[in-house]
Amino acid sequence: MLIIGNWKAYIESTTKAKALFASAKRLSAKGVHEVVVAPAYPYIGMGAGIKGLILGAQDVSETTGGAQTGEVAAGQLADLGVSYVIAGHSERRARGETDEVVTEKVRHIFAHGMVPVLCVGERERDSDAQYLKEVRQQISVVMEALSQKERLQVVLAYEPVWAIGKTGADAITAGDLAEMVLYIRKILGDYIPGRATTKVKILYGGSVDAENIRMLASGTGVEGFLVGRASADVAAFSGLVKALS
Ligand code: 13P
Repeated sequence: MLIIGNWKAYIESTTKAKALFASAKRLSAKGVHEVVVAPAYPYIGMGAGIKGLILGAQDVSETTGGAQTGEVAAGQLADLGVSYVIAGHSERRARGETDEVVTEKVRHIFAHGMVPVLCVGERERDSDAQYLKEVRQQISVVMEALSQKERLQVVLAYEPVWAIGKTGADAITAGDLAEMVLYIRKILGDYIPGRATTKVKILYGGSVDAENIRMLASGTGVEGFLVGRASADVAAFSGLVKALS
């Protein structure tokens, strides 16, 4: 499984960051799961010096860099050895990021040889299933802009907004998650021929912890997790990775 820890802005201490890096490196070295850490920008440089650590970034600029005060360009992340970059997280979309901006970000990520982790997910579930259209739109706009080869390399993270940042008990049910994974594969089928849609990795994110991770992994079709709050604590993060094994 691919497990990505999205520290968001929880960490404000280099000592804590170091401990989390060391723990993620140990977990990945076991070779059972691919464990990735996505720190906030200030800590990426620190992680870059650690051999064996798989680094991610939480976001990237939609620009190519240059005269862009406050932006972090894809080339800069690639230079530091970042492998995975999150694009379109709902916490960025809530600040006005459109599907078109997310698409630009994905293009820059690919152009620098990194893997985009495209976040999609509905804000809420309505009874007439409009939420399915929301997810379809988020996936379609990006897929339309990519080459066939790139489409297969995208990692899709399904993160329903209503399940983010809550307690483990508020995460999605295994049944609803399995249904959504099937639906996402169906959407992918519009862009990728036949069985090749199974090559696209689908992750789940939203209140994942050591208690619910096995339930969320069994029979749902997900191939990994994007973890927020629990990834900012050594015991909680290693606990959930171990619970999967
Ligand atoms: P939580 O695990 O804190 O719910 O966050 C999920 C998430 O948004 C990961 O990107």
